[in-house]
Parts: sequence; C-alpha cells; structure tokens
Amino acid sequence: MCGIVAYIGEKQAYPILINGLKRLEYRGYDSAGVALFNGDLNVYKRKGKVNELIEYARGKNTKGNIGIGHTRWATHGKPDNTNAHPHISGDGRLALIHNGIIENYSPLKEALENLGHTFTSETDTEVLVHLIEELQNRDNLALEEAVRMALTEVVGAYAIVVIDKNDPTKLVAARKASPLVIGIGDNDFFLASDATPIVEHTKKVVYLNDEEIAVVTIDGDLQIKNIGNEVQNPFIQELALEIEALEKGGYDHFMLKEIYEQPKTIADCMRGRLSASEGWVRLGGVEEHINKMLKADRFIFAACGTSWHAGMIAEYLFEELARISVEVEYASELRYRNPIISERDVVIALSQSGETADTLAALKLAKEKGAMTYGIVNVVGSSIARVTDSGSYIHAGPEIGVASTKAFTGQLTLLTLMAITLGYKKGTITKSFYQQLITELDRIPSKVERLLSNIETQVQYIAGEIKDANNALYLGRGYNFPIALEGALKLKEISYIHAEGYPAAEMKHGPIALIDENMPVIVIATNKSAYEKIVSNIQEVKARRGMVIAVVTEGDLEISKIADYTIEIPDTEEPLTPLLSVIPLQLLSYHIALLRGCNVDQPRNLAKSVTVE
Ligand code: AGP
Repeated sequence: MCGIVAYIGEKQAYPILINGLKRLEYRGYDSAGVALFNGDLNVYKRKGKVNELIEYARGKNTKGNIGIGHTRWATHGKPDNTNAHPHISGDGRLALIHNGIIENYSPLKEALENLGHTFTSETDTEVLVHLIEELQNRDNLALEEAVRMALTEVVGAYAIVVIDKNDPTKLVAARKASPLVIGIGDNDFFLASDATPIVEHTKKVVYLNDEEIAVVTIDGDLQIKNIGNEVQNPFIQELALEIEALEKGGYDHFMLKEIYEQPKTIADCMRGRLSASEGWVRLGGVEEHINKMLKADRFIFAACGTSWHAGMIAEYLFEELARISVEVEYASELRYRNPIISERDVVIALSQSGETADTLAALKLAKEKGAMTYGIVNVVGSSIARVTDSGSYIHAGPEIGVASTKAFTGQLTLLTLMAITLGYKKGTITKSFYQQLITELDRIPSKVERLLSNIETQVQYIAGEIKDANNALYLGRGYNFPIALEGALKLKEISYIHAEGYPAAEMKHGPIALIDENMPVIVIATNKSAYEKIVSNIQEVKARRGMVIAVVTEGDLEISKIADYTIEIPDTEEPLTPLLSVIPLQLLSYHIALLRGCNVDQPRNLAKSVTVE
C-alpha cells in the first residue's frame, strides 16, 4: 500500500526513481510523484499511474543525484495532484514521502495550525512534514534529529524518506509497521518499500526495523539509530532475487504468468522438503519446534483475503490428517477481540507479502499472550517473517499481479507438507497413507501443468459465455468450500462481477433465491466423499434454470450429463484437490476480466500489499 523509493549517490536519480516506481506500482496507483534536488527542490506529481507522471515531467528539469519518489494508494484524501506525494513543508525546505497512516494527524494538525501552519492537502502525511519543519526550525535541529523528535509524537504506521534542500547531502528514512529496505550500492544508496526496485542495482540490503531512523549520505555513510537515539548496527543481507522474476516474460499480464508458473512454484516449495523416492517430508521450522507443535492445544490461523482462504483449507488438512484442533481467524477481527489465546496455542500467520498490517498486529497480540508464532510467508525478509518465532517460506518468487494465484497454491503446498509431517509424527496417519500422500504431492506440479494445457481454450470459451453476468455463485463442499470462496474473490477483484462463495449445502438456506437463468453457478464437484450430495446440489440449481459450470474429476460421467459445462481436473487424493481445483477458477476470472476490458494486474481500488488497517 503506497510504494516509496529514494536514491542518493553519483548517478542521476530520476530514471532510478521512475523505474523503481514502475516496479512498486502494484502497491498503489492513485497518483505518483518525485522530488529531486538540483540546486533547488523540483517536485512533480500527478494523479494516476507512473506514466502520467512521466508525461507531465517530460521536458522539465529532472536532473539531480538525490531524490525521492512515491506511488500512492489513497487513505486520507482523494486521489488528485494535491494529495499526491511528495509533500512539502510550509517553508518549502523539506520534501517527504510516506507509506502508512498517521492516526493522530488531526490533533497534530490543529496544534500546528495554531502555530501558524497552513495545509494545502487533505493528507495525514502533510501534517508530518510540517511537524518535522516545526521542530527543526524551533530548536535548530539537524534533519535526522527533527525527524526523530517528530516521530516520538506520532501514533500510527509509517515508512518515510525526507530530503532537506538546505542539506542536500543526505536522506533521512524511518519506519514503523510499514516496510523499508535500504540497498547499499558501490557508492550510493537505494531506499524502497521492498526489494523489487533495488535488485537491479545491488543485492546488498538492510531491512530497517520498527522505530529505526536511518541516515544515508552522499559520501556513502549509513547510520541507524532507534527512536530512543541509540546507535544500531546495520545487519547487511544478500538478496536472493533475480531481475527476470520481476518481468512479464512474454505473457500479457503478470497474473497470467503467475498462473502458468504454478507447476514450478509448487515444485520449488517442495524442493528439499519432500522426497518421493525416499518417502519423507521435512520442514525445518516445524522440526525445530516439533514438541511444542505436537503438544499444542490449538493451531490458530490468522490471515486476510486469499491467505485466509488458505487458512480455511488448513483447518480441513490439520484436523483430518493431524487431528489438531484449528481455528481460522480474519486477522482484522482477531486483533480487536479479546481472544482467548495462551502459551499452549500456536498462532500461524499466512501472508504472501508478509506485511499485511492486520496480520502483523494479530501476531503481535498472540505473542503478548504467550503463544508460539509461526509465519508462512512468501516475501523473504518481510516483517511477518522477522517477528515470528519460526516459519517457512513458500518460495513462490515475486507475485506482482494484485490477484494472488501462485502464492495461494504455495501456501496450500506448505500447509499440506506441514499437516502430513505432524500427522505422521503424531501417528494420526498410517505410514502407508503418509507415503501415498507424499507420492501424490510430488505428482502435483506435473498434474497442474497438464491441467493448464488442457483447459485454456475451454475456459476462454466459458468466460465468453458468462462475461456479461452481474452475479455469480461459487459452491463447494469440504476441502473445496474454501476454493469456492477463493474463486468468488478472484472474480470480484479483477472483473468487478459480484460473486459469492458458499458451502454447496448452504445454498438452500438463502442464496438459492437468487438463482435464475442469468446466474452462473460454478460448482467444484471433485469430492469423493459427499459426491452424491454435490450432485444433488447441482440438480437443485438446474431445477431453477441456473447455468452450471462444474469442475469435476477427469472421467466423471454423471455430472457432465446435468451441468452446462464441465471442466476436468486430474484425479488426486482428496486433501490435495484444492491445489488443482483452484487453477480453472483463477484462469476463468482472468479471461472474464480480459473480455470485460478490466485492468487485470492493477484492479481498481486494490493494492497488493495492505500495510494499513
Ligand atoms: C488476493 O487476491 C487479494 N489481493 C488479497 O485478498 C490478499 O490475499 C490479502 O490482502 C492478503 O495479503 P497477504 O497474503 O499479502 O497478507
């Protein structure tokens, strides 16, 4: 949510900032802006995407080797040129970019207005830059000290970078609950919300911790202090990210690329953790804490959106295979309840980005209550990965499309590995079933590959048939109920068709009233258990003239007789079906969105990394 990027060094800053903003655009695209120092501060900002900014700045003075840039996902104030970042202090001396929310901006603003400050935007960010200005001028402070003092007065979340035209030899950056990475070049520094704008310049990075303030200088100095003014030792890490992973690689959209990458990403998630020939599964994070996990009263999964759907599948997996009692919570609800969590619980956060503010806050609450915390995360070095007691990366590589696809199947793979491991150690699954699941899991990447090549044309055709629907219903039972939720979310977020996911049997308790010939009903009907029941649910839809698109197991003859369309997926063990059944739903939503002329990778109002509440 909001992307920030900054540069200081010997090179021209503008092209570095613009490329960085393009890489970060998935975090928000309501407006974009830069501030560059070249004798004076030149600030250019525009409503809309980075391309609008490029057009606006064309022919203007974009020179300078120190600069900051921002791409916005609006919180306070509508998306327009005035509310776009960078924001400037009243005396025109400071420019600041910000990702996060200053929650107490209103009383701060009032106090500053009483001191004579006037504001031009509706943003919380402008208040922060005025506050820094006020403290800097009042006590004649160095920029970093004024920033530090200002942040002691701030409630909320921030990642900021500030530039001072009276001292254009440094950038000051700080973070709390919003991510900030510092790339260390040969003689320069690159600062950004994540590593994607940095990796093409350097692989040496420092992840700033909460309440740390960094000063990077034109002479190549990096100094970090905490908000209590104590010097901190920077921990320099090497990025394991390749630039190709950030490109579309010949696909029209990142989402399509990411859907097609799934055979590889699922295999990557299992690499070194599963051997089908030797018949074992090993997960470092689980083995380190095996006793605690086996003795736990409960596993509580906390997540948002698609990651929450993965958590829902975890409930089925862990209860069935490991007989562990599971609760699945929306992180945003868990954090504001007074939940009963104890040191006998394991709280597992699921997050692609590892930065989702609600998930992070739920984890902190769980820690306070003494629970063991575990992170299942994609982005290496992200906040969730760093605050949890232990965890596992899903190794899906950068996911750029706002609609999560490969991260979801990565989460499912990891959760399955975990459930199998615990089930076997607990003795709740037999050795032969353990081996059978391992063998089947090992086959999933090739099954996904075959599935993708078999269904593309058919799914495109079905997309054409239902693209004009106003509503859609997704139904599933057991392991495929969360897949119904996920299918509906995918359709909503990128094609703007209203869709709902339901347990198939629940349909008759309400949603059945909506069914008529205009309502496509997508039924995931691959279950071996409850097969006859789902057939009956399909009959109930057909009896009301609904159009049924059924996802079935290869060779299914019964449902093809009653459904309007059937999409076949390869057969597998029931706990593994979500890894296959979600694929046609991802592809269907992609093609529908495309036919409706929607921006697949950057759907309206959404951002990839939700770092605000
Ligand atoms: C998925 O398609 C969504 N864009 C969204 O629901 C996402 O899953 C959610 O915001 C959680 O993000 P996270 O996995 O990075 O925590």
